[in-house]
Amino acid sequence: MNLTTLAGRPLLKSFITARSEGVPRGIVFTEGQEWSEQRRFALRNLRDFGFGTKTMEGKVQEEVRVLLEKFQENEGKPIQVRNVFNAAVVNALWSIMFGERLDQEEPEVKDAINRIASTFEESNILANLAMFIPIIGQISPKLSGYMKMVEEAIPLNNFMKKQIESHNKHYEEDQPRDFVDAYTDEVKNTTDPKSSFHPKHNEMLFALLDLFVAGSETTSTTLSWMCAYLIRHPQVQHKLQEEIDQVVGKERLPALADRPSMPYTEAVISEVLRYSSIVPMVMHKASEDLEFHGFFIPKDTIVLPNFYDAHFDEAAWGDPQNFRPERFLNEDVTFFQTFVITRSGELPNLVPHVGFSLSPKPFEMILKRR
Ligand code: HEM
Repeated sequence: MNLTTLAGRPLLKSFITARSEGVPRGIVFTEGQEWSEQRRFALRNLRDFGFGTKTMEGKVQEEVRVLLEKFQENEGKPIQVRNVFNAAVVNALWSIMFGERLDQEEPEVKDAINRIASTFEESNILANLAMFIPIIGQISPKLSGYMKMVEEAIPLNNFMKKQIESHNKHYEEDQPRDFVDAYTDEVKNTTDPKSSFHPKHNEMLFALLDLFVAGSETTSTTLSWMCAYLIRHPQVQHKLQEEIDQVVGKERLPALADRPSMPYTEAVISEVLRYSSIVPMVMHKASEDLEFHGFFIPKDTIVLPNFYDAHFDEAAWGDPQNFRPERFLNEDVTFFQTFVITRSGELPNLVPHVGFSLSPKPFEMILKRR
């Protein structure tokens, strides 16, 4: 079996009808040639315009500075953690896609970000089921949250269309400033009508929506979980700060080049991703008949890889219920820069809110200078 055999996606009829007139478009909801072309292009160009590179580093550092100033102003006061990281994450992503920060004071921008956040939040496990068993969505559209995702599709499309139109007023052929320009060039240079980049498909809107929706909420929710765990596990926070002090010090921001010298920090991030498992299951479909561990899976069967179970499998982890970053270290290395994160009132509840993603229930934290 090769990996792409399970890379198909089931058709989410109501959502796809509202979003792209019944035909899957973009990266997340497509399959086959379209998925592979769009995914390859996105990966290559996100890298070219900074994702995971030095250019990205500068953009992330700028956002970290703004966030630190905000934290500084609120030092010692309870901070509502829900959505506290959204602006920084959205800005970093937006500057790669559109070459500039997003003005988050603009009512339309605030509205779009809130729509994404509430879609993730107001959906529950029934929404996941409603995607495959449409009768659930019909019997309890509000309860399942699936209708929320369908209802938000058009306003989000309109928001993104307007952003693309405004950005393209300054477009110059073959002079890509950012991901959107590179995409526009690719469309202009594509004459093969079978290619998903051919102008008749109007794919860019959906590829951008996918990156924006899939990249923003996931990253900021993961950062919120990190704060919750560090409050509950002060000894982990202490060890993390020791490593940062030794490798980075307090005079500058951490950089990508520090990564190889920061195994404990890396281990904490891995443990946060394992323990939070914010996307517990994802929708896939068998694109052909296949055998898996002795089971026959016919073509078009919906397959839901259960990441949550894998992350909490006792056979694999021994003590999966313990938040223990050391499990990702080969040796016990003892190693946060400006602030200590502490509780404000009750300890954060580690039982997640179950929506499309698993997010922390609202909690407050207090930051103190150390
Ligand atoms: C901590 C942050 C993140 C987490 C936990 C996360 C998690 C995931 C998961 C579990 C999937 C499903 C994989 C599958 O279908 O097998 C996924 C897919 C995807 N993610 Fe992320 N993600 C994160 C950040 C991002 C960012 C920053 C971006 C954009 C720059 C992004 C863009 C995407 C896209 C486009 C897909 C669909 C890929 C495909 O269909 O091949 N994600 N993500």
